[in-house]
Amino acid sequence: MKELVKISGLTLRFYTYEGVVLALDNLDLGIDQRETLGLVGETGCGKTMTALSILRLIPPPGKIECGSILFNADGGSEAVDLLKISEAEIRSIRGSRIAMIFQEPGAALNPVFTIGDQIAEVILLHRREEVVRQALKTVSRLLDGETGPVKSLLKPAWAVESKLYYAMVKNPGAVLPRIVGRIPLMRRLLWRINDEANRIVVRTLKEVEIPDAERVARQHPHQLSGGMKQRCVIAMALSCQPRFLIADEPTTSLDVTVQAQILELLRRLKVERESSILYITHDLAVAAEICDRIGVMYAGSMCELAGTADMFAAPQHPYTRALLAAVPKPGEEPHSIPGFIPAPLNLPSGCRFHPRCDVRGEMCAREAPPLREVQPGHFVACHVCQGGSSASSG
Ligand SMILES: Nc1ncnc2c1ncn2[C@@H]1O[C@H](COP(=O)(O)OP(=O)(O)OP(=O)(O)O)[C@@H](O)[C@H]1O
Ligand SMILES: [Mg+2]
Repeated sequence: MKELVKISGLTLRFYTYEGVVLALDNLDLGIDQRETLGLVGETGCGKTMTALSILRLIPPPGKIECGSILFNADGGSEAVDLLKISEAEIRSIRGSRIAMIFQEPGAALNPVFTIGDQIAEVILLHRREEVVRQALKTVSRLLDGETGPVKSLLKPAWAVESKLYYAMVKNPGAVLPRIVGRIPLMRRLLWRINDEANRIVVRTLKEVEIPDAERVARQHPHQLSGGMKQRCVIAMALSCQPRFLIADEPTTSLDVTVQAQILELLRRLKVERESSILYITHDLAVAAEICDRIGVMYAGSMCELAGTADMFAAPQHPYTRALLAAVPKPGEEPHSIPGFIPAPLNLPSGCRFHPRCDVRGEMCAREAPPLREVQPGHFVACHVCQGGSSASSG
């Protein structure tokens, strides 16, 4: 499998008191290595649910009923099905190999802890061994600088101490390391470990272009502006060097200049880290700016998927065309899409868009169109675009 993530036949339902909501309907989507894929569509079409399914974070009463989400972290032939692995395995993947940035940065940060403590916690959770190894190295280097009786006294004690700490990190739940960790003298290394984690925090904050990173690390979320908070959230997501970053409308609450800076930052980080990004937005201009390919969703299914240039130059699906026409242009009357987003409890039959479609044929109300490749790399789910007259003759 060459893709980083391959979603096949994903179906998600919410079992509510009012009835069953089909939030994702047999969704297929592939995200390539080192690509930015945009997911666009009107509110409620299932963009966030697609992202949360990948992380297996669907809130109750939602239930993934069928499908698979293959994740190929190292680009080899080995891929894991994120829907089948154990809870412990998916927990270790969340935040380390797949990270998510949410729409509202304020909600993603805890108001009572400093920015530094919150990012350090993520680092210590996923990169503990690396941090401890680095802290042990620093102490050894300091000891090497010592001479004479101090060195001969401290060196053997340090050899035992470092072994104990290593055992503690490898198996934090074991009794002996836990007892040893309570001895005041032994706690010195814990400070050193925190120091090391803080050094990584400052480095990560600098990477997301936060000026005066040392000071920001000591601040609480309420002391920062919206743009700064979102940068901190991005720093937190990047602190474990994920292979796959999911950004769910990360710039919606920000003003346009900060939005442009955040987009530039994501673009740069993608190139430097060689990671893939799933970028969720309802702003087509933003998607055009940052994405290599764009997928357009409607009522829980994919209606068109194509390269960004192709999507804007030659949109095929009537819904994509209507979405593009609805983008406000100076000196022109806005063209809103006629009709309403379908009620989740009462989805139209056949093609979900047919009641609002101006080129619908007879077949559209009867049968859901499959997603087919109409040109190389350009996929459309529409009876009219795919078969021309077949929509009305069927
Ligand atoms: N807790 C819930 N109970 C019932 N249905 C839900 C619940 N959460 C989501 N849904 C359904 O899932 C569908 C998809 O929701 P989702 O949040 O993915 O939309 P979205 O495309 O991200 O919209 P937006 O642009 O507003 O963020 C919604 O139409 C809704 O009907
Ligand atoms: Mg959403």
